[in-house]
Amino acid sequence: MKVTVAGAGYVGLVTSACLAEFGHVVTCVDVQKEKIDMLQSGRSPIIEPGLDSLLEKNLHNKQLNFTINPYDAYSKADLIFIAVGTPEKNDGSADLKYIHVAAHTIAHYIERDVIICTRGAVPVGTNELIQEIIDSRKPPNLQAEVVANPEFLREGTAIIDFFHGDRIVIGTRDPNAAAVMEQFLPTAANPDIQNGPPKCRND
Ligand SMILES: NC(=O)c1ccc[n+]([C@@H]2O[C@H](COP(=O)([O-])OP(=O)(O)OC[C@H]3O[C@@H](n4cnc5c(N)ncnc54)[C@H](O)[C@@H]3O)[C@@H](O)[C@H]2O)c1
Repeated sequence: MKVTVAGAGYVGLVTSACLAEFGHVVTCVDVQKEKIDMLQSGRSPIIEPGLDSLLEKNLHNKQLNFTINPYDAYSKADLIFIAVGTPEKNDGSADLKYIHVAAHTIAHYIERDVIICTRGAVPVGTNELIQEIIDSRKPPNLQAEVVANPEFLREGTAIIDFFHGDRIVIGTRDPNAAAVMEQFLPTAANPDIQNGPPKCRND
């Protein structure tokens, strides 16, 4: 499966590096060119134990790449994670403006059936909203199913949390999308994880 992660912030970056380490081919897209240039040259904008070595290794073996080009990121993707920021507004609610833009962009560029997965902390109803945006703008011949797979990682132990989280939540009404996600994610039921985690040092 070709995987794209939208957002090279804390969650997007950790998700991208860990999925690449798990064996998937991952493209991480962001709107900040400087950040993407830095990442593509192997330097991380955040400090997280184990992340630098995962980035270096998976950039080198071409499991992972970074881009600001939405066509390259979305057109051939089978699975897209949305990990853009949801900053708090003055009233305490989540500002979904970055999610709106990402959903419009994804709908515009997809060229094959795709699962779109929200990774961030989003209010109830956000996935329905994203589904509406995608359905109203995508090519009518394509299937695009929006599912929830929230991230529970903690800064400082994010890599370990990704591979050994104590819960994985997959939210969808579509049994096929649920089955794909269950197969795809590094769950305890996955033999690759049962046989030991992918190598990552807590350095
Ligand atoms: N940081 C954490 O510890 C943590 C943990 C769990 C969940 N979350 C949730 O995960 C989500 C992401 O959080 P974060 O801390 O990674 O955010 P962040 O602000 O660090 O990064 C967001 C990134 O998205 C990029 N972006 C914005 N619009 C974009 C677009 N249209 N296309 C591509 N990229 C775009 C930004 O340039 C930025 O690099 C939020 O909903 C947050 O609440 C965060």
